[in-house]
Amino acid sequence: MRLSLRFIIPLVLALGAIAYGVAPLVDDLTLKWFVRDLDIRTKLITSAVQEPLAAAITDDLSPRIRQQRLEAVFGRLVQDERLFAIGYCDAAGKFAYRTVTLPRDIACRPPGQPAEEGRVHTFAGGSLHVAANPLSVEGMRLGELVIVHDMSFIERRSADTKKYIVYLFTGIGAVIALITVVIAELSWRGWMAGMKALIRGQLLADFSGPRSRELGPIARDLEALVRDLEAERRMRDESQMSWVPETLRTILREDLKGDEILIVSNREPYSHVRQGDRIEVQRPASGLVTALEPVMRACSGTWIAHGAGNADREVVDAGDRLRVPPESPSYTLRRVWLGKEEEAGYYDGFANEGLWPLCHIAHTRPVFRAGDWEHYRAVNRRFAETVVAESRTPNPIVLVQDYHFALLPRMIRERLPEATIIAFWHIPWPNPEAFGVCPWRKELLEGLLGSSILGFHTQFHCNNFFDTVDRYLEARVDRETFTISCGGEPTEVHRYPISIEWPLQGLDTLPPVPECRRQVREELGLAPDVRLGVGVDRLDYTKGILERFAAIERLLEIEPRWIGHISFLQIAAPSRSSIDEYQSLDARVRAAAQRINSRFAAPGCQPIVLKVEHHDAERVYRHYRAADFCFVSSLHDGMNLVAKEFVATREDERGVLILSQFAGAARELPEALIVNPYDTEQCAAAVRDALTMPPEEQRARMRSMRALLQEFNVYRWAGRMLLDAARNRNRRRLSRTSRPFASAALGP
Ligand code: G6P
Repeated sequence: MRLSLRFIIPLVLALGAIAYGVAPLVDDLTLKWFVRDLDIRTKLITSAVQEPLAAAITDDLSPRIRQQRLEAVFGRLVQDERLFAIGYCDAAGKFAYRTVTLPRDIACRPPGQPAEEGRVHTFAGGSLHVAANPLSVEGMRLGELVIVHDMSFIERRSADTKKYIVYLFTGIGAVIALITVVIAELSWRGWMAGMKALIRGQLLADFSGPRSRELGPIARDLEALVRDLEAERRMRDESQMSWVPETLRTILREDLKGDEILIVSNREPYSHVRQGDRIEVQRPASGLVTALEPVMRACSGTWIAHGAGNADREVVDAGDRLRVPPESPSYTLRRVWLGKEEEAGYYDGFANEGLWPLCHIAHTRPVFRAGDWEHYRAVNRRFAETVVAESRTPNPIVLVQDYHFALLPRMIRERLPEATIIAFWHIPWPNPEAFGVCPWRKELLEGLLGSSILGFHTQFHCNNFFDTVDRYLEARVDRETFTISCGGEPTEVHRYPISIEWPLQGLDTLPPVPECRRQVREELGLAPDVRLGVGVDRLDYTKGILERFAAIERLLEIEPRWIGHISFLQIAAPSRSSIDEYQSLDARVRAAAQRINSRFAAPGCQPIVLKVEHHDAERVYRHYRAADFCFVSSLHDGMNLVAKEFVATREDERGVLILSQFAGAARELPEALIVNPYDTEQCAAAVRDALTMPPEEQRARMRSMRALLQEFNVYRWAGRMLLDAARNRNRRRLSRTSRPFASAALGP
């Protein structure tokens, strides 16, 4: 009803206004027509009376008889009801006859004046049409006939016309309004339903639901618009924000309304290791930990991880928790204990002998054992239970990290359906053919698709994931909205290139660059003219350590002038050492270093200095600062944070980064010397170029990379995911509080 009034009232008002606007125009027009008619009529009357009048005037008659004749002629005329008055002006311009009704102010025209058209004479009682037509017979001028018509009939007709026009327009208006109301009422319902569903996010969330045919294209356009606006807003917001720890806290407080955060990873940020009767705290060598620790320091919350340190149990409370970082506690570390067999099956076996080589193209064959798979499943379930136990609310934000927990998102989703689960895959995602060799590929994909958001470092890895799901699952893959629906809530798949904190924690307490340089060179016993290169990695076959050594060796072969003038320090943190492949790599790396050193040894300068040991962050940063170049030659790497850390420590804007094209970081740092680690000649040339690069060029490249890292730091990485999580939660809230779109849609 309200809708009808909303249409009818304005329509009727508009048409009324039109009618009243049109009426005077019609009035004016009809008046002109009537005046023209009266002009014609007076001419006809004049010509009709001309003959009898001429006879009455020209005949030789007595004045009385003449007067009688004139009255007889005019007497007949005035019987016409429209004729109001009549007068006859003789040739001298004087009234020879006039009816009593002729108004006094109408006079004869003086002789000789040209004739005029009829005119409208208005007086108190109304309007009259006055015409003075000349009379002549056989060329003889007899005077003028003044004919006055009553125009009141015109006014009556004009009033009638006005009335009809208003009636007509009102009638038309009513009919149009009625038709409009019927159409509007029908489409309004459909529109409202469509809009409500759009606002609820129902359409964005689920393309597969039924919707009215006529709303489909509009909905799609709106969805695209919303997506563009969101992307634009995100881009704009991101570029306008300064990404510091406080930014994350603000997002948590304002966008996520203080919702609780839980992180799950296999590797813990701090492990406790017994050294005699002392317990030492260690920061493990893990890009994942490097990136997430500052995020957790900023966000608080709980980090759930495998307690792998041999003294880990000694320092936790009854709930297996402790507050970290040790120097200024700001979040909780919840440790999960694994038995030896479990660890061997889940971590060494399925994760590191199966998934790790499966996802890295490093020519190491993945090994899949059913027993390992069982452990992997069981451990994932254990962590899911821990997440449920640790969450204080039914809808926490859970950040699931890496390939150790592919099954975890779905397991959490089953237990906490309201949770926002962000899974991040820190390693590359291979193409469908490569991934397809895994016997449990379907379960792994379904597990990951329990996430609300799934992140990779590069778009290339996202695309590989889309292709893999397309190939192996019955799922709806939408590459336009970057979503995959596989039963239940859709999963958004996005690229979030991970980074480092800026500035690096602990950098401010390090000595200045020249001092670091002096210290390190002294430690290594390097002569002043020896140039220093550095590599820092876990001892892993994906890192291309052997390829790096081969490049140094090749340079010394082709340019012997460098013998005794270059030393390459390789810091290799022991890693996954219970796995055969890693043990064999350890042996091969040591052998290669030995061989090269024996070939090109010079007094006070070993070509390769290999340190297979754990270095804490502070020591690693010192070496970065002391180096002339840093060599990152990964055969395949999700991102590689060593490359970014090296750049971050070089406040002096010196030093050269040689970076593998197969590391995700190469996409963000093109100012590095980008190499193919399989191409030994090219890598050797890159080392030579690094050693000879002028300081200005080093500065220009460093400055550009530092500017990028400052802006695209780890707070931005986490912040983008949290902003997306906030958006995702809002949508879900809306879709839960509104009616389902399908029930409100129009009929067939
Ligand atoms: C890679 C993985 C991390 C892992 C790290 C160290 O960066 O993506 O998940 O923590 O290697 O490996 P580790 O097996 O020692 O944890």
